[in-house]
Amino acid sequence: YVIGIDLGTSAVKVILVNREGEIVGKASEPYPISHERPGFSEQDPEQWVSQTLSALKKLLESTPIAPEHIEGISFSGQMHGLVLLDKHRQVLRPAILWNDTRTTKQCKEIETKLGSRLLDITRNSALEGFTLPKIIWVQENEPEVWSKTDVFLLPKDYLRFRLTGRVHMEISDAAGTLMLDVPNRSWSEEIAAEFGLDRHLFAELVPSLQQMGTLLPEIARQTGLRPETKVFAGGADNACGAIGAGIVKQGVALSSIGTSGVVLTCENNRNKDFGGKVHFFNHAEPDAYYAMGVTLAAGYSLNWFKQLFAQSISFEELLQPVADVPVGAGGILFTPYLVGERTPHADSVIRGSFIGLSGSHSRAQLTRAVLEGITFSLQESVELFREARIRVEKVVSIGGGAKSAAWLQIQADIFDAPVVSLKNEQGPAMGAAMIAAVGAGWFSSLPNCADSFIDYGEMYEPIKENVIKYKQLFRLYRDVYTSTRTLN
Ligand code: XUL
Repeated sequence: YVIGIDLGTSAVKVILVNREGEIVGKASEPYPISHERPGFSEQDPEQWVSQTLSALKKLLESTPIAPEHIEGISFSGQMHGLVLLDKHRQVLRPAILWNDTRTTKQCKEIETKLGSRLLDITRNSALEGFTLPKIIWVQENEPEVWSKTDVFLLPKDYLRFRLTGRVHMEISDAAGTLMLDVPNRSWSEEIAAEFGLDRHLFAELVPSLQQMGTLLPEIARQTGLRPETKVFAGGADNACGAIGAGIVKQGVALSSIGTSGVVLTCENNRNKDFGGKVHFFNHAEPDAYYAMGVTLAAGYSLNWFKQLFAQSISFEELLQPVADVPVGAGGILFTPYLVGERTPHADSVIRGSFIGLSGSHSRAQLTRAVLEGITFSLQESVELFREARIRVEKVVSIGGGAKSAAWLQIQADIFDAPVVSLKNEQGPAMGAAMIAAVGAGWFSSLPNCADSFIDYGEMYEPIKENVIKYKQLFRLYRDVYTSTRTLN
């Protein structure tokens, strides 16, 4: 057996998986986010550790499987979060999370200082969520904290340090710091020099599948695991989510609809150029990369709509009549920019719209428009992939979009590609467990593990006439952004 740990933004989830890829146990523990000021989003790293230990203990207590049979554990983690440690490996301030938006000024500074070198080296544009702008914010606003900083880590790398006593940073996560030379998988000395960042601040880089020792004896005692349990480096949550959905080879894309929506695809060419319009990160699979686009308000938009118009019914009841509404939602177009949009506009000010309303429209038609609008927004990323000559032959749908047959068909028709869901979807924790399974030597590679672990559900093929209609509507959808950007 192996354990996958997903250190998420609102909770830690742990799963116990057997050699067939079946889940034989799971547990979860929540932790709070603090928003001390508008735009601030922080967490106490100590809570990650105590809640992970508590979840592991719960898992071990709830299963008849003896700890001797648990060979390895690995991690998936929320990306970009800044954890600062002093010389004694003590945490210096609360972690600043990926969804913290205090760093707009610092992003501008990065772009001014580095210009086109930023994209050349990191393959990404400067966004508030990434780690470097957070470091600059601490340098500028908390010099006393910064002067004590010896090393910075990301959330799951800090957790792994506490479980093993060893300080490292894993590469797929380091890719989201804006300080990694992504194509060369090494820290960028040029960026470090530009921002006065000493060598000691950068932890040694390790690949996802590498064993990082075993559990500290006191951790073993507290959880019920054996101290010999092997610990593997792990990956960023988006990399692990991709692995857990079998996105380990070129040609297949992932469409993940949670609060935000993500479309990503695996890529072997490290020099693929997206001009910074999508994220480009190192995958957990050695020598692979993934391109990723983000819709900020995906499930969030549907949730908002339900809160306003359908509070008393379930999501299932809300989505049930959508299949009977024809393509195009009776002439209504929805843009899901409720909190701005990331891909392709990187615009935090734009807001959403319902267009084409008439007095006779029904709730079912509005609901369909919301699903179509969210999917159009994801299609913007799929288009960017295709423009960069990435094949999207199949899409694996996870999260909210996979829970409704009508929405799966809408995705197939808008993406113009067959769409499948997973039979036993577990999210990034599964990817973490797969890293442990390969690390423990059960499989020779992640693609081999995926072939054996992942079970796909029914395939939704694109319907030609719908594809044509959606192509026309997609042109209109794109115009809405341009026409409404000066609205507020
Ligand atoms: C990715 C990102 C989020 C976090 C969520 O760029 O900011 O997906 O990884 O945990």
